[in-house]
Amino acid sequence: MTDYFRKKVHYEDIIATFDDVLIKPGYTDFSPNEVDISTKLGKYHLNIPIISAAMDTVTEEVMAIKMALLGGLGVLHRNCNYEKQIEMCRKVKFARSFVIEEVATISVKAKVSEAKYLMETYGISGVMVVQDDNKVCGIFTKRDIPFNEREIRHGYVKDFMTKDVISIKPGVKRSEALKMLYENRIEKLPILDDGYLKGLITKKDLKPEFPNASIDEEGRLLCALGLSPKFPESSQTQETLKELDKYVDIFFIDVADYYKKADIEGTKKLMKLLESDFVLGNIGTYEAAEFLLTKCDFSENFIGLKVGMGSGSICTTSIQTGVGAPTLFATAQVADAVKDYNPKITVIADGGLKNPGDLPKALSVGADLMMSGHFFAGCTESPGYIDTIQGRKVKVYRGMGSKEARASGFVSDRYIEGSKNLAEGVSAYIPYVGDIDGVIQSLKEGLTNGMIYSGARTVQDMKKVDIGIITPFGQQETRTHDLI
Ligand code: XMP
Repeated sequence: MTDYFRKKVHYEDIIATFDDVLIKPGYTDFSPNEVDISTKLGKYHLNIPIISAAMDTVTEEVMAIKMALLGGLGVLHRNCNYEKQIEMCRKVKFARSFVIEEVATISVKAKVSEAKYLMETYGISGVMVVQDDNKVCGIFTKRDIPFNEREIRHGYVKDFMTKDVISIKPGVKRSEALKMLYENRIEKLPILDDGYLKGLITKKDLKPEFPNASIDEEGRLLCALGLSPKFPESSQTQETLKELDKYVDIFFIDVADYYKKADIEGTKKLMKLLESDFVLGNIGTYEAAEFLLTKCDFSENFIGLKVGMGSGSICTTSIQTGVGAPTLFATAQVADAVKDYNPKITVIADGGLKNPGDLPKALSVGADLMMSGHFFAGCTESPGYIDTIQGRKVKVYRGMGSKEARASGFVSDRYIEGSKNLAEGVSAYIPYVGDIDGVIQSLKEGLTNGMIYSGARTVQDMKKVDIGIITPFGQQETRTHDLI
């Protein structure tokens, strides 16, 4: 039924999980520094194939910013009101923007003491000086503050400011701005349109500290948000979604089981309302993927499928309902359908990954990217406090189907609506593991070394490697054993 299983393990309909398989070692004809772990999500290039889950104990703006800076992506959760969602998205989008849009200005008639107060109060090193008609006539920085106390108190900005302001026009590229700042040995470059202030570029904000960051065409961080597939009837909510659309690059439709008529219809309406790209999920079978790829007529902004049902470390869906599609199985099934019907669609293996080695396994059955909550909930960057239990530092990690998460009422449509008593997730503690950099580094190294052992230089090559089912004795042997 599915190529990945038929060809690779000669079994059909075996619902296998990560621990059931191992990648077979392969011939390697490249050096370690030639390994390329970058991947694609629709038109977006990601330097690492890693996404943090849209869960309220995993991804808010701090996590999303860090994930994007490190080359992955963090999907902001939706278990909060729209105001908070807009705030989180704005913060991610503008976190590394090299153009400051809200620039401090002061009237040309102001005193030096006022400019000094403004700079000290807002912790800024300079202000733009404007005339009554708001046209820029100078720039006043900390370096222009006179030494003499009397001049500070009684002097006027116009007598100390720099009048010949070096400026740039709107729509400037990062590289052009950088060149101008260095050539003129200045720290600040205002953007002027016919003399009116449109923004400010500072040398500090242009530093390319994160060369791997996931960015949009304008150099801003990529922003992704979980979204209900329900189309809101209220025009006010539709306007709010349009507001979110301004900051979001990719909406991740966020339900436990997406293979449903109502959710598909709702999504199609949302795709007409919104311009951003869409990842749909979760699904778990070839049939579901085939249906979405061939029968639904989604718009061009459908870029990916998120797969895996009931595998999450905090999930109880399979236990409570008897239905599930563990992530390895689901990925193999959906990747087969994608290969058959639309190879441009990205496959995201979501949940159930426990060890770094599960990432190469996910790629070996056709995933382009992995999504995890488990790896990241214990990091400094996840929401929530660090607690201590029996001397160990911990953080709360909870399923979005847990009673605790559903109490907010914002994610009731993630599961079967109307079913209020059946929790499909738990709330628990997870060890605190420090900054996310260490976790990402382990995942990157596990993947890189796995690719070298299996002879795959790229993520696409990983899809061609061989896997096999491992027996329970084999599992025992591949773990540490017979030790005291
Ligand atoms: P991990 O294994 O990383 O899985 O903890 C995270 C993924 O699990 C999904 N998720 C849930 N599934 N009940 C479920 O059945 C839940 O309460 C729940 N909360 C999250 C989700 O896809 C996430 O990315």
